[in-house]
Amino acid sequence: MAASLTKLLNIQYPILQGAMFAISTPDLVAAVSEAGGAGVLTDAWDVETLRENIRIIRSLTDKPFGVNLNMAKRHTDRVWESARVIAEEKVPFITAGAGDPRPYLPLMKEAGVKVIAIVPNVRLAKRLEAAGVDGLIVEGTESGGHIGNLTTMALMSNVIPEVSIPVIAAGGIVDGRGVAAALVMGAAGVQLGSRFLLAKECGSFHDKNVEAIIAASDEDSTAIGTTRGKGMRGLRSAFTEQYRSMELSGVPTEELNKFSANITPTIAKYGISDDGMNGMIMVGQSIVPLKRVQTAREIIEEVMAEAEEILKNANNLLG
Ligand SMILES: Cc1cc2nc3c(=O)[nH]c(=O)nc-3n(C[C@H](O)[C@H](O)[C@H](O)COP(=O)(O)O)c2cc1C
Repeated sequence: MAASLTKLLNIQYPILQGAMFAISTPDLVAAVSEAGGAGVLTDAWDVETLRENIRIIRSLTDKPFGVNLNMAKRHTDRVWESARVIAEEKVPFITAGAGDPRPYLPLMKEAGVKVIAIVPNVRLAKRLEAAGVDGLIVEGTESGGHIGNLTTMALMSNVIPEVSIPVIAAGGIVDGRGVAAALVMGAAGVQLGSRFLLAKECGSFHDKNVEAIIAASDEDSTAIGTTRGKGMRGLRSAFTEQYRSMELSGVPTEELNKFSANITPTIAKYGISDDGMNGMIMVGQSIVPLKRVQTAREIIEEVMAEAEEILKNANNLLG
């Protein structure tokens, strides 16, 4: 059986705060790590800001934290620059997504940075295990933000038995029930994104977005771009309705890109646009339990207490 996430990262609770573009600021990352999980910063900044943010986190906590290396730009200089800063700063671990992290493994290994790769299927999971990554994240289509096709349940069912390194489950997990279920499925830990959008330390996330998430029902979740291989999940809005109808009517992808061009940078930063088009608040499908703003510590302690209670009574579940 694979080691737990707590052993892999030397943390108290098996909880990662998923990277969330510019929303996962040093304040949020440090607060999650201080509370016993592990926060994850993004590399969505220029490299000097990335270095500065890493140092700010270090000034706020001496606990382990990570940086998300986004490889969507296909091993360009920009990705290599971020990778070098992460290695120089000896960040405890990276979560590597939207590409193949193998080119960065020697640099990370040499710097003692653990590599957790985000994988969409068994094939890549096995290939990256063989290449020497330290752990895997499987992120189901229930997640907020960029999404693939498979559900978290299917990914856990498919991937976990096929590898012997730790697998972290992400997507649709917002409370102790989700954490307990993932651990019972054999996951080494979980990654939560949406639940941390309602963390007090999530300062760059607009109050209007928080209110919309609290008011949302399960039917307000939607995904756009799924027919073009770049799905993105969030709350239904005038923008998503128009995008989706253009997408389904078969307009060329370039036209869709043009339509969303003005809106995408603001989505990336704040999850909402201010140009009247209403943007898209990125949040996952498990939305009904998201009702309160709490500190990162309150979130982690509440989620873990629920999970522990459920697991303690698990013997009785069979009746
Ligand atoms: C607003 C938002 C932004 C996100 N941005 C990123 C990102 O920059 N990089 C990444 O790897 N994952 C990103 N994610 C995915 C999260 O890290 C996490 O895996 C996901 O939110 C888990 O699903 P949940 O939202 O159901 O908890 C984002 C998620 C949200 C909600």
